[in-house]
Amino acid sequence: MTSRERFLAACAGQKLERPPLWVMRQAGRYLPEYRALKAKSSFLEMVRTPTLAMEVTLQPLRRFALDAAILFSDILVIPEALGQGYHFRDEGGIGMEYRLETRAQVDALAPAHAVPDKLRYVADTLALLKQELKGSRALLGFGGSPWTLATYMVEGGSSEEFERIKMLFYTEPAIFNALLEKLTASLVEYFKMQIAAGADAIQIFDSWGGIIAGPDYEAASLRWIRQVVAAMPKDFPIILYAKGTAPHLQDQAFTGARVLSVDWTSDLAAVRRSLPANVAVQGNLDPVLLNTTPEIVTHQTKRLLESMRGLHGHIFNLGHGITPRAKIECMQALVDTVVNWKE
Ligand code: CP3
Repeated sequence: MTSRERFLAACAGQKLERPPLWVMRQAGRYLPEYRALKAKSSFLEMVRTPTLAMEVTLQPLRRFALDAAILFSDILVIPEALGQGYHFRDEGGIGMEYRLETRAQVDALAPAHAVPDKLRYVADTLALLKQELKGSRALLGFGGSPWTLATYMVEGGSSEEFERIKMLFYTEPAIFNALLEKLTASLVEYFKMQIAAGADAIQIFDSWGGIIAGPDYEAASLRWIRQVVAAMPKDFPIILYAKGTAPHLQDQAFTGARVLSVDWTSDLAAVRRSLPANVAVQGNLDPVLLNTTPEIVTHQTKRLLESMRGLHGHIFNLGHGITPRAKIECMQALVDTVVNWKE
């Protein structure tokens, strides 16, 4: 069985000898070869140059027996394609070119149908990867949720309190909805392009889904995600990762997403048992564990695998992205433990 077949079988909830494995942000700063490439080209250059983006995507696969490759890119290419660029602040975090505050600014964004052309380099990268992988590993595309993208656009970058996006949501619903409609339509175009270019599955990152009040999660975020999923080809696997939204997992299970990626705060086996059988789960070790020791990682990985024994439809992953402080030997311990596991 190839890694790609194992991955797609887990998405479909089939019984497997061991779960497929990949790690959010598996290409990134904890890898010396990534840091070496970044010393020569900026992050944005790497994202926009298909041969470089392919190289970064493949780096973790050369080192580790991972079952999926995830496109090297960023969720913020969508605001950029719509006319609001981004950069990395010297003090850390994201800065957007300007803060989006008015109806006129929403109306001035590029139309959704312009997105595939502006992000042609993403399709080119996926096509190169498809050719290179030859079906050996699953190829994952991704994008941000409309809500998570809107937080960066309205806050003007990374945020601590998210006051501006919440103010817009509560006081200017017409502007909020116009922005979210634009983002939803853009993501539909973008994901269709990724699928046409060869993506086997797509992960939607609702990284800031957990910052809105529980009773408002539907109107702020989930309804737009549901619209994106509904516009995808029937049965195409969508993975939904929404950090800090454990109270909404049941609702997320009825969006049409095939896999729910669960953060580290939940007991994954309990989540698995509580969800409908046609929805798979992904997760959910605490990423900080990979900054500890191989012994601790091995122990915690076995503990999670043991808790999932006999339960189908599991893709092994962290509960959020690996950190730049992660140790290579800890990542190796995680991979060895999962790959050698027997149900
Ligand atoms: O998983 C992967 O390996 C694919 C690559 C990937 C990146 N960003 C590369 C990246 C993915 C899936 C993303 C998604 C992304 N980008 C999200 C959602 C995922 C999540 O973690 O919740 C968000 C919120 C962003 C926006 C973003 N891009 C942030 C907040 C940052 C960190 C800024 C900082 O202070 O360092 C980035 C930069 C980024 N994106 C890096 C990588 C490898 C680090 C860039 C570097 O090399 O310095």
